[in-house]
Amino acid sequence: MTRKLFVTTALPYANGPFHIGHMMEYIQADIWVRFQRMVGSEVHFVCADDAHGAPIMIAAEKAGKTPQAFVAEVAAGRKKYLDGFQIGFDNWHSTDAPENHALAQDIYRALRKQGLIAERRIEQFYDPVKGMFLPDRYIKGTCPKCGTPDQYGDNCDNCGAVYAPTDLKNPYSTLSGATPVLKSSDHYFFQLSSQRCIDFLTEWTTTPGRLQPEVLNKIKEWFAVDDDPEKSGHVGLNDWDISRDAPYFGIEIPDAPGKYFYVWLDAPVGYLASLQSHLTRIGVDFDAFMADPEVEQIHFIGKDIVTFHTLFWPAMLHFSGRKVPNHIFVHGHLTVNGEKMSKSRGTGISPLKYLELGMNAEWLRYYFAAKLNGKVEDADFVSADFVARVNSDLVGKYINIASRAAGFLSKRFGGLLSNDLGVEGRALLDGLRAHRATIEELYEEREFGKALREVMLLADRVNEFVDRNKPWELAKQEGRDAVLHDVCSVCIEAFRLLTIYLKPVLPSLAAQVEAFLKVEPMQFADAARALGGHDGHTIGDYKHLMQRVDAKQLEALIEPTVVEAPPPGGEALGPEIKVDDFAKIDLRIARIANCEPVEGSTRLLRLTLDVGEGPDSQGRPRLRNVFSGIASAYRPADLIGKFTVMVANLAPRKMKFGVSEGMVLAASHADEKAEPGLYILEPWPGAKPGMRVR
Ligand code: 2FM
Ligand code: ZN
Repeated sequence: MTRKLFVTTALPYANGPFHIGHMMEYIQADIWVRFQRMVGSEVHFVCADDAHGAPIMIAAEKAGKTPQAFVAEVAAGRKKYLDGFQIGFDNWHSTDAPENHALAQDIYRALRKQGLIAERRIEQFYDPVKGMFLPDRYIKGTCPKCGTPDQYGDNCDNCGAVYAPTDLKNPYSTLSGATPVLKSSDHYFFQLSSQRCIDFLTEWTTTPGRLQPEVLNKIKEWFAVDDDPEKSGHVGLNDWDISRDAPYFGIEIPDAPGKYFYVWLDAPVGYLASLQSHLTRIGVDFDAFMADPEVEQIHFIGKDIVTFHTLFWPAMLHFSGRKVPNHIFVHGHLTVNGEKMSKSRGTGISPLKYLELGMNAEWLRYYFAAKLNGKVEDADFVSADFVARVNSDLVGKYINIASRAAGFLSKRFGGLLSNDLGVEGRALLDGLRAHRATIEELYEEREFGKALREVMLLADRVNEFVDRNKPWELAKQEGRDAVLHDVCSVCIEAFRLLTIYLKPVLPSLAAQVEAFLKVEPMQFADAARALGGHDGHTIGDYKHLMQRVDAKQLEALIEPTVVEAPPPGGEALGPEIKVDDFAKIDLRIARIANCEPVEGSTRLLRLTLDVGEGPDSQGRPRLRNVFSGIASAYRPADLIGKFTVMVANLAPRKMKFGVSEGMVLAASHADEKAEPGLYILEPWPGAKPGMRVR
């Protein structure tokens, strides 16, 4: 029976390029998908950009772009990675695509009809300057326990205390610097705590074969309701807040003006949207496909997003009357030479640099495959291990087989394969064929490391056969042509079998081998048939198939870690900009006409700046009012009469104490605790107010 599979990887946030961790997940899923196709399954393999949410909205604003333009630019960069590493998604979509808006709204309406959406008023921090509710990560303040300033809203870096953002002393918005105010608003909740949801999820999660055992164990912990949740921390499932207030880059909630779905509500719906767009393109009815009970829905994800995929997502699907996922395949995280990677910046290995250095994508596919298994285990990329596995296993054991035999075949026998092969040769090939079932099973279970180990053990056997039969000696002996012919033909047939077994991992190498062997694209079933047979089969000329890795390439690839060399001023350089971007910032020499403290603020000084703008409509010289957070470093009297540099075309900002009409430039270390001090810029003598700084 042909399996019908709908397979996805997690949808990456459209806020930056891929890191090596993304590539590991895509390669894992791609290998599994290619394997499935090679055993005859029908597979639809899709992905998309996860476009919505506050961080992307804010990043777009900082970049001076609409969120749509911002995510489109990120999306445009995807192809070179996917093509470069031979990741064969059938479709790449976006969660901001129209299909996703429609599907997310449909699912929500269905959940509401089921009575599973509750409306509750909640109080949250609001940034009065930006005019928006603040996600926790944009709130900082002083730790209520130890008094360390500049701590995030959920826990203190210094003393480790855990608290709510509302517990912070002197909280401020990292977006505007403003003091947030508490404001209430209506939110929509998906009632995951309802008995109906709990019953369904208990059944769904414990269905045999659905989840890896270690994933199921974690879930059982979340479900556990304790008599004393204070002690154990177990509170069972909470309702899930699925709404966010405008301004938000997301999908509008039906019948709720100004409310948007929280990004994690519409993100997994993007799996369906991408599939729908793909099926429509190939002329398959999406609804009919999803209604087919034979279709298996499978998501490959990392261990950090298990809750979303094993609780929220299946419940959303089930209660909106849709197919639920059949399997969630969870993998661990990737470290590089023992170092953890940051979710946004990745590790010291840039996938693009890998390609630009001319490194072979299939080396990485092979190496990842060798490290991957069906468990939720972290994998470590170890440079020396990478070199060893590629050079001694992939090239040294496998590729070598072809290069040892192909030359004799074409020079002495015109490329025609023998159809006798000899007793020893036939036994060797039978042995190789006998392992097919095990190897298939290992691929199926995502035990790629074990599958490759099997293949390499078989390659060892073939090399031992070559060593025993010594074709290079046979070639010099009189009257041994037939034996030489058999031995080399056995090698080529063995090489063909091993290539079938490795093809999910090495698709483009396999294509080269198919061209060399002059065969159609190979499937696993082709391992049962012998090449040649009684009609004979002629292969093409052998061209070297794969180079070895040069350890120097790896040195060039691995970037020095930040720990060894702290960045200047305590922060990494910002992303590169074009000269046009810089030209947008109008910097002018300003004279500080007046400076005074701001009542009610210990941080701010009020500056009156003259940027040579001439008289206003009442004939008075136009002066700017600017609030600047430099009170800790300067006394007002010391600044009056001094020259400095200001951003003169910054949109006026309303602050608690008045409107600020620009910004003065000052230098400081990123970590004021490590290196206190704030230094206003001052031009060399001769500069006049109003002169542009460029
Ligand atoms: O963690 C992440 O990178 C999310 N963008 C994954 C979303 S997966 C799916 F739900 F869309
Ligand atoms: Zn603290």
